[in-house]
Amino acid sequence: MSESLLVIDQLEVVYGRVVRAVQGISMRIPDGGTVALVGLNGGGKTTTLRAISGFLPSENVAITQGTVRFHDQDITGLRADQTAALGIVIVPQLDKVFGTLTVQENLEVGWRTRSRGQARDSITLSNVFDVFPMLAPHRERLAIWLSGGERQLLAIAAALIKRPALLLVDEMSLGLSPLLQRQVIHKLTELKREFGFSLLVVDQNARAVLELADYGYIIENGMIVRDGPAAELLVNTEVQEFYLGRRSGEGARQSYRDVKQYHRTRRWWG
Ligand SMILES: Nc1ncnc2c1ncn2[C@@H]1O[C@H](COP(=O)(O)OP(=O)(O)OP(=O)(O)O)[C@@H](O)[C@H]1O
Ligand SMILES: [Mg+2]
Repeated sequence: MSESLLVIDQLEVVYGRVVRAVQGISMRIPDGGTVALVGLNGGGKTTTLRAISGFLPSENVAITQGTVRFHDQDITGLRADQTAALGIVIVPQLDKVFGTLTVQENLEVGWRTRSRGQARDSITLSNVFDVFPMLAPHRERLAIWLSGGERQLLAIAAALIKRPALLLVDEMSLGLSPLLQRQVIHKLTELKREFGFSLLVVDQNARAVLELADYGYIIENGMIVRDGPAAELLVNTEVQEFYLGRRSGEGARQSYRDVKQYHRTRRWWG
């Protein structure tokens, strides 16, 4: 459990030669662990996942510094097909499913592109609707007609069918009702325990992913400003106030101006 599956060291990603979206971050995902990456809009979460999985756009972007190691192998800058062959599977923030294919066909694409390196199938074409019964009634529907939540579930199911060694989920709770969020978290925890993959979950909804994770990182302006065991982050006062929407004191609800002022003056890393 404590052996590192993925180690990111001083990674820097620059768009268009000027936008340093990720500014020298270091992170570690233990083998079999669940790590959460949380932060506000534009913090660099999606860019980090894209850099790990090789889904950076082919033009106008560069990894200018640092390394990503997977199973102690340097995978910095590998293409998406190469990381997929190693068992790194991503549920992207956008374009999660093939809209012009049916639900069943989306799952078949996942199955056909599954990683051969993994020892066991977590989910197969024959049991996927038992694992995700909410998708069963939509089996023959085009994915474009699914609701946002159904689409997210289909994306997660199609990713799991690829037999990930490391599953990256961008905006995990996007479009899911609180009840469905809890069901998905429960399902991922169960499947992870049974099949032993590792998980990196990204979300603006810090609570949803910190409750699932063992360890968490908070990213702001492309920098990791805080990290620690997820249970500790969940009870940390600053994290509660600015990422979990908790009030600071007796009847004192945080105003938008307070939050902006806090962001202007705060230096967690100073
Ligand atoms: N293709 C691109 N070209 C130029 N800048 C980009 C590109 N993609 C992202 N950025 C910029 O990089 C920064 C980080 O973006 P990123 O999408 O990684 O943030 P995020 O934390 O995932 O945000 P969100 O919570 O809104 O999804 C932002 O300032 C964004 O505008
Ligand atoms: Mg994003």
